Amino acid sequence: MNIQQNFKMLPTEEAAKLRGRGPVSSKPYYDPEWWELERKAIFMRSWLHVGHLCEIPDAGSFIRRDIGFARASLLIVRGKDGEVRTFHNACTHRGTQLTQESCGKQSKFSCPYHMWTFGTDGSLLSAPDFERFYVAREDVGLRQVATEVLAGMIFINFDPEPKQSVREFFGPLVDQMETLPVARATSFTEWNYEIEANWKTNFDNFQENYHLRFIHPRTGQQTIGEDNPFGYPTHYGFLGPHRSQTLWSNPDPPPIPPSLLMGYGKAAQLAAKDGVSFEKTDFKLFPCLHIVGLPPAQQFTHTMMPLGPGRTRGQVRMYWTGEADRASRAYTREFGAMTIRDVLSEDRFAVESGQRGLNSGAIEQIHLQDHEMLLRHLYETVQDKVAEYLAEQEAG
Ligand code: FES
Ligand SMILES: [Fe+2]
Repeated sequence: MNIQQNFKMLPTEEAAKLRGRGPVSSKPYYDPEWWELERKAIFMRSWLHVGHLCEIPDAGSFIRRDIGFARASLLIVRGKDGEVRTFHNACTHRGTQLTQESCGKQSKFSCPYHMWTFGTDGSLLSAPDFERFYVAREDVGLRQVATEVLAGMIFINFDPEPKQSVREFFGPLVDQMETLPVARATSFTEWNYEIEANWKTNFDNFQENYHLRFIHPRTGQQTIGEDNPFGYPTHYGFLGPHRSQTLWSNPDPPPIPPSLLMGYGKAAQLAAKDGVSFEKTDFKLFPCLHIVGLPPAQQFTHTMMPLGPGRTRGQVRMYWTGEADRASRAYTREFGAMTIRDVLSEDRFAVESGQRGLNSGAIEQIHLQDHEMLLRHLYETVQDKVAEYLAEQEAG
């Protein structure tokens, strides 16, 4: 299946006309009160990507995720029945965190304070001297957070009753997401960073190519050419709150370093065998997940979770299928991951500097050119979600 069928990809001119061309307000990019609205309207009730199935392969495998904007620590656990569940890492006796480990494998979770012990399904298995409590055992299971898996990726939703399932949320994209390499990944290389920037300021940096030739004069070579000196995408697509772009192919790219050729060549063969062809696909999934198919058939995800109005935590992963069973493959993987890290380090300065410039409020409006239309779409989507939330509050 091709991304263009789902996203109604349009050439730049046509898409830009549809999106409009006026300036947008800068306030949502720095204002703490606006952020509080986004927190409630978006982050406390949207499906958020927090992990991958390959991190919890066995019964009892778990990962811990601390989600700053929700002041929550979560345990994402594979149960004995194979189900993936998410619990608050908080004992239902008096709240003590059950574990400080970031991941592990265990058949039960015992609270260090008074030894209440919970199963991998969250039920209370035992509690010392429980006869002296006046509560039913069934009522003190671990507090659960809605969890669904799609394309190998684990999504959670803090809304106790999400309005949509994750499949409904991604709609026609579901089939395509399930064909992505990330769906079959068995391992990944990851790094995490924190940045002094609003989550949208940071996300926007990865939604436009306008900056490539200035910020990435060296690392951006593959995507810039004589016919397209800014490396602009050729098409843009919109599907509800989600966005996509089709990247341009440089017909005469500079040579790929020999060190990468071997690994990429192998990956290309595997991709061709699977009928996978989406290296030009670039998904920006609401609210803060970015999935890029790298050349060829390599998946790179980037999640940008807000920590507050002016601080964001990013998680970047390159997903792999199968073992790095040869030195050449191991080297290629490391090289690929480090290349992306270099590019992102170049972006960091521009993003933080951009945020510092906005923080005073002196720049009241942001001007977006046609090739920044994905930024406009995120801005508008956020406006809509907040308006929807406020209307709901008003209606009681
Ligand atoms: S707080 Fe966990 S057993 Fe008391
Ligand atoms: Fe960049």
